[in-house]
Amino acid sequence: MEYVRVARSGQVPDGYVRRFFAGELELAVARLRGTAYATSNYCTHLDCLLSSGKLVDDGIGCSCHGSVFDLRTGEAVCPPATEPIKTFPVKEENGEIFVGLTEHDIAQGSRLAGPRRRGTAG
Ligand code: FES
Repeated sequence: MEYVRVARSGQVPDGYVRRFFAGELELAVARLRGTAYATSNYCTHLDCLLSSGKLVDDGIGCSCHGSVFDLRTGEAVCPPATEPIKTFPVKEENGEIFVGLTEHDIAQGSRLAGPRRRGTAG
């Protein structure tokens, strides 16, 4: 695993989630109570973008139908989603956010989307 720089720390203020890319891999990078988190960017319910969602007390909330995912574990803590999202380790150094990824994660990025998108991606 390698830590890949994805953003400046200031691009992800506390309480916000934003979309960033590492190669083919699309990430939702969020900051909740000062800590930065990185997850896959597609809700496991019907593939809405989590970077368009909102942070709530329990984690990241999908704007489409209200599913909530734990930012540390990816677990779906509020339905209708039941499958977890993928989470990645994050570190911040010198005002920059780095996400721990394998080459496989980056190369397979587009396959981290939910069932509908996987179906269209072949
Ligand atoms: S697509 Fe996220 S809750 Fe339905």
